[in-house]
Amino acid sequence: MDNRPIGVFDSGLGGLTTVRRLHEAMPAESIVYFGDTGRVPYGARSPETITRYARQDVAFLRSFDLKAIVIACGTVSSVALDTLSAESDIPVIGVVWPACAQALRETRNGRIGVIGTSSTIRSGSYERMLLTARPELRVFTQPCPLFVPLVENGRVQRGDVVIETVVREYLSGLKEEGIDTLILGCTHYPLLRGVIASYMGPSVKLVDSGAAAADAVRTMLIPAGRGRGQTRYFVSDDPASFRQLAALFLSEEIAHPAELVDISSY
Ligand code: DGL
Repeated sequence: MDNRPIGVFDSGLGGLTTVRRLHEAMPAESIVYFGDTGRVPYGARSPETITRYARQDVAFLRSFDLKAIVIACGTVSSVALDTLSAESDIPVIGVVWPACAQALRETRNGRIGVIGTSSTIRSGSYERMLLTARPELRVFTQPCPLFVPLVENGRVQRGDVVIETVVREYLSGLKEEGIDTLILGCTHYPLLRGVIASYMGPSVKLVDSGAAAADAVRTMLIPAGRGRGQTRYFVSDDPASFRQLAALFLSEEIAHPAELVDISSY
């Protein structure tokens, strides 16, 4: 058994969808979460900036004695996973491969859609991985740059005219392509599951990349012992509003207030 915590990070709140799944599937694990709420969103930034931010996020997390790091961010996983893994002496797990593996298991007609931030889609990460595994697939991608700011502002409910309009605008092309599986390639997007599912219809399976990564963690790490693990939350801006929105992502109040980190010092 290994009782060291798992480090999890994202540009903001999205990675909490991974934390939620880790809590459900591996309740004994302790977690240190960092959300870079002062610099969110990452998704339209250059690969160089995303890599620089991600290195600082990892450097902060490594101030704890961790057993692994989960990049609970589709953007960082797409752009910087190889760099961060090469620089690390503990496992670094991204969301791209776990999500692709699940999509490959789910699809029946071989037509898979991928949505993510602009940087994620531009990197071609999901598409490359899917087509390497199965070259005969048809993969359709769509950047959805407005989703992260809308989610960070809590605009996630069915019936909200703003989010419903943006979902229709982004997803109509994928719907017309007859996909049967849609990868939510950004960890913020599971909050939009209800709106997306109702627009795409019951024949399209949604793959939650953050949850898929949490499931992969379970198969890769030496588990903690018994009991309930402890989770600590750190952010780079405004712990109070993080706490408020975190309840939405986790479907429960966070037990202890988030702590503020000066991420520029790492
Ligand atoms: N949750 C991040 C992702 O999975 C959001 C990126 C952003 O900050 O734009 O890509």
